[in-house]
Order: sequence, then C-alpha cells, then structure tokens
Amino acid sequence: MPSTVIVGAQWGDEGKGKIVDLLAQESDLVCRYQGGPNAGHTIIFDGETHKIRQIPTGILSGRTAILGAGCVVDPEVLVSELDAYGDRGTFYLSGNAHLIMPWHVAIDQASERRLGKLQIGTTRRGIGPAYADKASRIGIRVQDLLDPKILRQKIEVALAEKNLWLERVYEVDTFDLEDVTSRYESYAQRLRPYIADTSLLVDEALREGKSVLFEGAQATLLDLDHGTYPFVTSSNPVASGAATGIGIGPNRLDEIVGVAKAYVTRVGEGPFPSEIPSPLQERLRELGGEFGTVTGRERRCGWLDLVALRYAVRLNGFTSLALTKLDVLSAFEEIPVCVRYLLPDGKETPHFPAHQSDFHHCKPMFETLEGWREPLGDDLPNGARRYVEFVERELDVPVTLVGTGAERERVLARS
Ligand code: IMP
Repeated sequence: MPSTVIVGAQWGDEGKGKIVDLLAQESDLVCRYQGGPNAGHTIIFDGETHKIRQIPTGILSGRTAILGAGCVVDPEVLVSELDAYGDRGTFYLSGNAHLIMPWHVAIDQASERRLGKLQIGTTRRGIGPAYADKASRIGIRVQDLLDPKILRQKIEVALAEKNLWLERVYEVDTFDLEDVTSRYESYAQRLRPYIADTSLLVDEALREGKSVLFEGAQATLLDLDHGTYPFVTSSNPVASGAATGIGIGPNRLDEIVGVAKAYVTRVGEGPFPSEIPSPLQERLRELGGEFGTVTGRERRCGWLDLVALRYAVRLNGFTSLALTKLDVLSAFEEIPVCVRYLLPDGKETPHFPAHQSDFHHCKPMFETLEGWREPLGDDLPNGARRYVEFVERELDVPVTLVGTGAERERVLARS
C-alpha cells in the first residue's frame, strides 16, 4: 500500500518502534506527524540498542526521514541525533514545525512541581508549553531559524514575557537573551540544510507511487482531544492527525495499523481500570522490562483492556493490528482480559465512557483465558493462538503481526 499510518492503540510504549522499523523496510519515506522528544523509540539494530527521541527511526535503515509541521522540535536533541545517525539516511524538517525553547522545558518542570499531587506526569521535555505557545500564536517556528534577525527578535519578545513568569510565578531562574540567541543561531547553522516543504515532498512521493509510512508518537489514549484528558499529551496521535500534521488530505491514508501491547502499560498519572494489583504487577513489569525509554520511570502495568482498545479502533479506523510482547504473557497460567466496564450506575458497557467521572469510577470486568506456559516460536502454541483470536473476534480487526520477543526479527506475520 502506498501509505500506512502506525498508531499506538493504548497509552504509549506499545513497541511501535519495532513495528515501524519492520514496515520501514518496505517504505521510501518515514514521517512523524506530531509530538516531540517525549517519544522514545528503542530499536535493536545490528546487535546494538538505539534510543531515538526525535528523528523517525527509519533513518537507521537508510530511509528518508521526515518531521512534519505538526511536530515540536528540540533542536539540541535533534542536532545530537543528526550527529549520531544523520549520515545513515536522508532527513527533512518542516519549516512549520514549532521549536521547543529552553523556557518551555523550564515551565513544564516548574508547573508539574507546582501541581504537586495533581501533576500530569509529563516527560518534562517542554512539549505542553511549546504546543500551548503554538495555539496562542506566539510560538517560534523552525523557519524562524532561517533569518537571524527574526530569530533574535522573536526570542526577545518571548523572553520579555517568559522571564517574568519564570521569576515571579514559578520562582525559578530566567534566561539570558544573548545566551539563548547564540545557542539557537548555532542550531540554525546545523539545521538549515534540512529545512524543507515537507507537505510538498510527501505529496510528490505519493504521486510518484512511493510508499510512505506515517509514524505516530505517543498513542491514542494520550490524544489531546480524544484521550484521557487531562492525562494526555498536547498533540493528536490518532491516525487522522497524520493528514493534518503532515499537510496532505485524509483520503491519502490507505492502511491504518494499530499497535497494541498484549497487556497494557501506562506512565504518568490518571485512571487505569485494568491495572494489576501488587505483587503481580511488579512481576509483569520485570518480565516486560517496563521502564520508560526517555525518563526511566516505572510503567504501571495492567491486563489487556478491550474496552479501551475498542475505542481506539473507533477513533483510528484500524485496518489491522500488531499485537506486541505476547511472549511476556507466556509466564502466566491464566490471563485475565478486560472485556467490559461496570459503570457507577450498575450498568455494564463494552464502550469507553464518554465522561471522565464514569471512567474514574468504573470497574473492569474480566474474562480469564488459559495461558500457554511455553516460549513462542514460529508457530504460536494453542493458548497463544486462542488469545490472539479472542482479541480479533472482540474487536473485529485482524491481528496481522504478533511480537514474540525483543529482537528485531521476533515478529510473526499472520494472514
Ligand atoms: P508530555 O507529552 O510530556 O506532555 O506528557 C503528557 C503525558 O503523556 C504523560 O502522561 C506522559 O507520561 C505521556 N507520554 C508522553 N510521551 C509518551 C511516550 O512516548 N510513551 C508513553 N507515554 C508518554
């Protein structure tokens, strides 16, 4: 198919990196359409582990990698990744993408501290404040790097306000105009050759019949509009975000692949109905290596939640699913799967609650499937196959890829 969108179907960390990497082998272009260095993809490539936060991982295998207009870019992170991986493939950056400035990071950290128990649990990389400035129309864009006079002027205008906030509201250090300007001018020198009209590039590639992969960062339930607000990221990971974030029509998206872990994890705060009680949760976390790529934080672990996944199918229009890390469940004799929620009014529902307080107070209703207690090879053992078929039946979406181990090649294709 000429164009494929890959979207995390849960709260992130579904192992998208590996599926993206696999599908990137058949793609000419790999594009990110939203998010910034809050995403962390771990790729095991040629025996080495790479953690990439900003550039699409397709660059590792020599593809053309693109960051679209819907992204926010931390130039410090980007430059260091270009130093490490830039010569492996081609890279382009939209001039319309917004820059993460040092005050965005400082505000993200200070406001989380200030929220205390009410904090969102952000990655503290400045993502929310950068998108907030974009929406307020006071953001600084990648194309502003092309003109040193404009860049300096915009930094000066921004600092006049941000320094007041930092000093008086958050009571933290302020930033110096000369310092920030000279740092961003040096990033500008380095990034200039990569800045391009990426909407046009992708449009032309599709017209030429090339295959384009759109790689969603974060995931469906972290979507700003449709996720578990306020415990969400500040962009639109859902599949339709690929069209707006890149600048092409939605009718150009052919396949929509949802990536779901065979269980669920969540970092940060917020309700999590299928969360596993202690000490089983710790066992699953250790078995699955569920610690954040970017932050190193422990991920909360839960059983597969088909109510939430059904919602993800609705929001994204998945044409197929990749079910990752099934091997981690091989250790369990019985595997509960959440099939419905029991709402506070006593009603059962297979649908994700539209209202936050229902979601906060719902109880998971499980069906328990038998485990398989053996390693996953090229053929799935009966129990594992039944687990996958159960998911397919409940969601009415084919599971075409199954992750059976950490290494790059441990993915089974199903027809
Ligand atoms: P932010 O994107 O840093 O603003 O964080 C907002 C929410 O999204 C927090 O709950 C984060 O933990 C979560 N989040 C952001 N990026 C990722 C990711 O790549 N994986 C999982 N969760 C993420």
